[in-house]
Amino acid sequence: MYLHVQATDKCRSEPSVLAYAVHCQTDAHGRPVAGVVVICRDRLTGATYNHQATVQTVIHELFHALGFSKHLFHTWRDCSSTSPVGANCSPRGKVTHSDESGQMRIYTPSVISALQKHLASADPELGGPLENLDVPAGRVSSHWESRVLQGSIMAAVLGDSTTVRIDSATLAALQDTGWYTVNLSRAQSLVWGDGEGATFGSLSTCQDRSSSFFCTGSGFGCHYLHLHKGECQTDQYLEGCRVYKPFQNGSECWKEENGRKSAEEVWSGEIFGFDSRCFFSNLTRQVCVCVKCLILNSLFNINSFSLHLSQSPSLLFSSPVEGRCYRHRCTGPNGYQIQVSGSEWVDCPAGGTIQIKGYQGLVSCPDRRLCLYPDVTPPSDNVITFPASITSDPYETLTSAQNGTWAPLRPPTELTVATALGITAAVCLLAAVVVSYRKCCSCRVRIHSAPEHHSDL
Ligand SMILES: *[C@@H]1O[C@H](CO)[C@@H](O)[C@H](O)[C@H]1NC(C)=O
Ligand SMILES: *[C@@H]1O[C@H](CO)[C@@H](O)[C@H](O)[C@H]1NC(C)=O
Ligand SMILES: *[C@@H]1O[C@H](CO)[C@@H](O)[C@H](O)[C@H]1NC(C)=O
Ligand SMILES: [Zn+2]
Repeated sequence: MYLHVQATDKCRSEPSVLAYAVHCQTDAHGRPVAGVVVICRDRLTGATYNHQATVQTVIHELFHALGFSKHLFHTWRDCSSTSPVGANCSPRGKVTHSDESGQMRIYTPSVISALQKHLASADPELGGPLENLDVPAGRVSSHWESRVLQGSIMAAVLGDSTTVRIDSATLAALQDTGWYTVNLSRAQSLVWGDGEGATFGSLSTCQDRSSSFFCTGSGFGCHYLHLHKGECQTDQYLEGCRVYKPFQNGSECWKEENGRKSAEEVWSGEIFGFDSRCFFSNLTRQVCVCVKCLILNSLFNINSFSLHLSQSPSLLFSSPVEGRCYRHRCTGPNGYQIQVSGSEWVDCPAGGTIQIKGYQGLVSCPDRRLCLYPDVTPPSDNVITFPASITSDPYETLTSAQNGTWAPLRPPTELTVATALGITAAVCLLAAVVVSYRKCCSCRVRIHSAPEHHSDL
């Protein structure tokens, strides 16, 4: 394997390409025996450089050169009946076929069993689905279908590096080349689609709300690993299916520096840090009532009105459900507690919703996402992350989407506050400034430490 770090013509003419690979020699039976990975030199410097993403890029390209390639599928060999591996194997012949829905799939034993296990289905038609975007009918691509194997190292789009997995379907494919002995138990868990059944990720089911991995509309929520907040979006590979994608900036719950102590954070009870995760929530701190009283008293001096307001707070402070960062700690498989700013640790029953003392609104407790996959954790070193997408022609190339085409920029904090908390809350905020910051602050601090006093208002 040759590794070139170079500014090639291809790198220069296609600024979005990070790296590309090709096998350059095969033996008499079609096994690749030499290959090259070219990493575009200029992509190894600059503000967007990310070590982990670069490692993943190289692994992705290596896997192409080792055999996960449309140029090599037809030379894969069946070595199941021989030992040692490599001696007297027989050609597998054509391993890619279309299923009855027209989806091209790899049909080899380990790949089928990896898919069946992953989706918890015994369907024998469950081969490894291949990306169909920009692929002429009857031809195949060198990537897994993003809708079904989102997050796989061999998907056509690599997202944020903390969400990319070297999954069992990919290792199974390398095993089925017949050229390698693979320890399949080294696969990382691919949370995406786990146990969701044979039709998971199909165009006909992704928009019918039957799976919590997909979303509809364009709201804010949580990436499915719950490490990041996200926005419901699609991309060309998802073909109209939508998922919560991390923002380009500041969506990691596990990064303490993302907690800017903004007004939004104070009102929503968010806590950022290594053990924080994303939850669907519309919690709103009840302190808002107090600020509002202050405001209304000082602006309009109408005591009776403010009293009335504080008695029907839910009417006033109804806020949309979105992704929020709260601390979590595991109590067992799929069992955990959460902590919101100023609250105790409280049990969060998976699949249920809870209220938090001192807050209005609800927090949803995700089912089978937290405290179930020991290898889904934040990276221990905080690195800048950026999304990357991959295209494959004429080589297996890896490109980046640094222009933010699929990762939205987060609106400025002030804007977010206004939209997230609604006009009522925005009035609250605005007037808090009018009333004077110190007055508002002292109110907040007092209520923070003694919420009972406040609720007697
Ligand atoms: C396969 O990987 C597992 C997990 O790392 C390890 O415990 C096991 O010993 C490995 N098996 C072989 C044959 O290397
Ligand atoms: C991300 O946030 C940092 C710090 O707030 C800022 O300097 C940078 O410009 C932001 N990047 C984008 C793409 O918004
Ligand atoms: C929070 O969301 C729930 C369900 O979506 C809704 O019933 C409730 O009124 C909301 N509460 C607040 C305070 O916004
Ligand atoms: Zn690729």
